[in-house]
Amino acid sequence: MKTLKTFLVITTILILMFSCKQTNMVKPSTFISLKNNFQDDFYIGAAINENQILEKDSVVTALISKEFNSITAENIMKSMYIHPAKDSFAFNLTDKYVAFGEKHGMYIHGHTLIWHSQLAAWFADIKDSTEMVLAMEKHIKTIVDKYKGKIDSWDVVNEALNEDGTLRKSAFLESVGEDYLAFAFKWASDTDSKADLYYNDYNMTNLNKRNGAIKMIEKIQDKGIKIDGVGMQGHWNLKTPSIKDIEESIIAYSKLGLKVAITELDITVLPNPKDLVGAEVSQGFEGSEKMNPYAKGLPDSIQTKLAQRYRDIFKLFLKHKDKISRVTFWGVSDGQSWLNGWPIKGRTNYPLVFDRELKPKQAYDSIMALTSKN
Ligand code: G3I
Repeated sequence: MKTLKTFLVITTILILMFSCKQTNMVKPSTFISLKNNFQDDFYIGAAINENQILEKDSVVTALISKEFNSITAENIMKSMYIHPAKDSFAFNLTDKYVAFGEKHGMYIHGHTLIWHSQLAAWFADIKDSTEMVLAMEKHIKTIVDKYKGKIDSWDVVNEALNEDGTLRKSAFLESVGEDYLAFAFKWASDTDSKADLYYNDYNMTNLNKRNGAIKMIEKIQDKGIKIDGVGMQGHWNLKTPSIKDIEESIIAYSKLGLKVAITELDITVLPNPKDLVGAEVSQGFEGSEKMNPYAKGLPDSIQTKLAQRYRDIFKLFLKHKDKISRVTFWGVSDGQSWLNGWPIKGRTNYPLVFDRELKPKQAYDSIMALTSKN
């Protein structure tokens, strides 16, 4: 009896010791990542470019694989690259993109089937309605069929709206009329009934544009055509749009019965010419220090403002995680961001959460601190 009691006491002590060790155990750094931090909330992704798809830099590949569980092709799936001529498709790079996603266990997003920009020249030149319908149908069905069961969701139509909520005068609208929108979603869902189909646009927090998007989406829904989500691109700055505007938009799109994805998140810290009184982007701002104030590095004060802004935004995302399917950064690190070249070429911007040396920034730490997982 005494032996048994001694055994039980020793066992209990050992269990207590081990469990204390467990709770104080420092997690290996591989556990601390964006994707693990938000694993119960939404996919966390990045737009990746050609070099990243080809795994040209093993350090970058390791960072992408460690931090993200979703990818978006930044450029290579746009029609000028994937369908460069009427009767020829170029799938070499897009096959590698899908293979990258499968190799790293990613949620793979397709960007974008129908977009007026980076539109193949042969496509943009079509004026006849029947010819455009046939071209669009072949484009969508060929690409979606090729990646059926591999690509999890598509930006079926990108940026079809003007800022006032009316339809943008694109080659598609001019030749086919507004039915091109419903056709696009129908062809995509007929081809792959399982992929989630999104309408994607920027400035989706602007009231007029939001109302225009809702009206456009309801028309598609009223035809009984499948549309699963709205992509709010999220090209924002340190102050606008307000958290209130973002929240109202997330709620409004969700009320359509749709998923909401934040599809192209970045936060510019640079002045934008149009914010200047009467500024016109084409007005010669190139090289002006005023428009490129942080060429030599980002001051701590701005680093902190960026961190606070990302924290406020992710706090809102977590509040509405029931509505949000995915949050994708538009790029992996500051050095690759399109915002180093837009709206003014050759600037030094700092819009993402990894710096030019691929190190996590204060903004990374601020969003990681929002959950108890690390
Ligand atoms: O492919 C050519 C290359 O051959 C050439 O040497 C090089 C010379 O500059 O240009 C390369 O093309 C560039 C392309 O990105 C690929 O890098 C284009 O000039 C450049 O304009 C293009 O910019 C892309 C932009 O879309 C085009 O509108 C950006 O990388 C990309 O981040 C941006 O992404 C869009 C989304 O698709 C839709 N939402 C808005 C977002 C920002 O504009």
